Amino acid sequence: NQVSPFVNEPFTDFTIDTNKQAMQTALAAVKKELGQQYPLYIGSKQILTEEQITSINPGNVNEVVGYVSKATQPLAEQAMQEALRTFETWKNVSPAERAGYLFRAADVMRQRKHEFSALLVYEAGKNWAEADADTAEAIDFMEFYAREMIRLSETNIHHPLTKIEGENNQITYIPLGVGIIISPFNFPLAIMAGTTVAAIVSGNTVILKPADSTPVIAAKFVQLMKEVGLPAGVLNFIPGNGAEIGEYLVEHPKTRFISFTGSREVGCRIYERASKVQPDQIWLKRVIAEMGGKDGVVVDETADLDAAAAAIVASAFGFQGQKCSAGSRVIIVASVYDEVVAKVIELTKKLQVGLPENNAPIGPVIDQKSLDKILKYIEIGKKEGKLLVGGSRAEGNGFYIEPTVFVDVDPKARIMQEEVFGPVLAIAKVANWKTAIEVYNDTDYGLTGAYFSQNEERIAYTLENMHCGNLYINKKCTGALVGAHPFGGFNMSGTDSKAGGYDYLLLFTQAKLTSRKI
Ligand code: NAD
Ligand code: ALA
Repeated sequence: NQVSPFVNEPFTDFTIDTNKQAMQTALAAVKKELGQQYPLYIGSKQILTEEQITSINPGNVNEVVGYVSKATQPLAEQAMQEALRTFETWKNVSPAERAGYLFRAADVMRQRKHEFSALLVYEAGKNWAEADADTAEAIDFMEFYAREMIRLSETNIHHPLTKIEGENNQITYIPLGVGIIISPFNFPLAIMAGTTVAAIVSGNTVILKPADSTPVIAAKFVQLMKEVGLPAGVLNFIPGNGAEIGEYLVEHPKTRFISFTGSREVGCRIYERASKVQPDQIWLKRVIAEMGGKDGVVVDETADLDAAAAAIVASAFGFQGQKCSAGSRVIIVASVYDEVVAKVIELTKKLQVGLPENNAPIGPVIDQKSLDKILKYIEIGKKEGKLLVGGSRAEGNGFYIEPTVFVDVDPKARIMQEEVFGPVLAIAKVANWKTAIEVYNDTDYGLTGAYFSQNEERIAYTLENMHCGNLYINKKCTGALVGAHPFGGFNMSGTDSKAGGYDYLLLFTQAKLTSRKI
């Protein structure tokens, strides 16, 4: 029985009344459920711990989204033992059967789409469209990786072998073992679910440690996987302190691989820790680390300037700039600089800040720590550039910051070089398009970039010379679609794993060659 070709989950159009009402109904229903307790999942046990993580709504800090049980090192060890034990059976389950769990989970999530999105609105502070895109991407990952596993399991299709007379040669992709999935807060459903199911469908068992600020949506996802019948012990769920639980598992000799998405600081530390071979460890751990970005938009004088300005604002301020793909710096050629800046300022001033559940375009940043860090960068920016919009906290019972734009910033300035991860945009003026590309490339990172131009020769040059994992021409630099825009970055943006792409599952498997004389 053939599966249909993969298609992306469509985004919801909230200008249509019925869609708007459906979202409002979901928001009201989810609100009634806020404040519940969520357990750990270790093997077949659901464990409520005494100490819990309190997840709050960053847009209304008096509202508790949920209380999530918190693992300790002994509980992390229990999860490891369950994952090891279950691996012995799960690795023998056929790829098609493993894929079946993902197809079923995608179906259920699709039916309950607005419920998941509403929870993202409350827990992550996403506006409706951002939440809807996060849920759609989670569905896409499940649909896509299920198909990919089936494709990968078809003998020699993925990796054709040279025919040798008198031999039957085959290559198969077998699982690795127990993987540790460590996920970030900013795509708390899509990245958390995507990295988890990619590892599972490839035949591994996993221990999932979600971001500390968004554990409830992760708990909902784990419940869903249980509902669709995923065998106990395949997905073990242990929220907890990153430094304590994360480090323990990263260093564990039985950990076979780590799939991390998050900051450069933590990613580099994991990479280093995982490289040390522990006593009784019989493999080299594999590390997938997708980290930060200092992504940028380049505009030359031939570009459609309205389109460029709209893309700049969308790339900089979507989800309050808390995307690894956020276009937090812009490089504009001098002859159109003032015009583009004026358009960007006009669009930015229109962005209202407010409660995500009311679907304000700009919501809060995730927590107090982020707020403090971003405000610190704004102070740095005031010394490094000219502040044209924003620059302060915004009103509201949460972590709100005004969309902020600095112009005339030196390409070497800290706000042009360091990831702020908030609604702060730095703009630099350069003499010509080639210098603009050089300035774009002058960063430790290399995740996303966008070039706006109508000159074919320059575009051809840029396609080869703008150094980043995801390069967009005449489009914004955020919003990669599963299957169409495999996602991952160069340099200090990480291991360029290309999530949502063909070949991604190879990272969770090892290739076994068999050669038989016939
Ligand atoms: P973070 O690095 O603070 O946390 C990520 C995860 O690591 C969390 O689950 C956290 O608890 C855990 N952690 C923290 N310390 C740890 C340790 N010592 N050992 C093991 N685990 C530990 O990142 P964040 O603030 O949640 O997310 C934002 C960052 O993620 C940004 O830098 C952003 O660019 C990046 N990001 C990258 C991508 C990508 O695909 N490249 C995607 C999303 C986010
Ligand atoms: N994959 C997300 C984007 O492209 C981060 O914006």
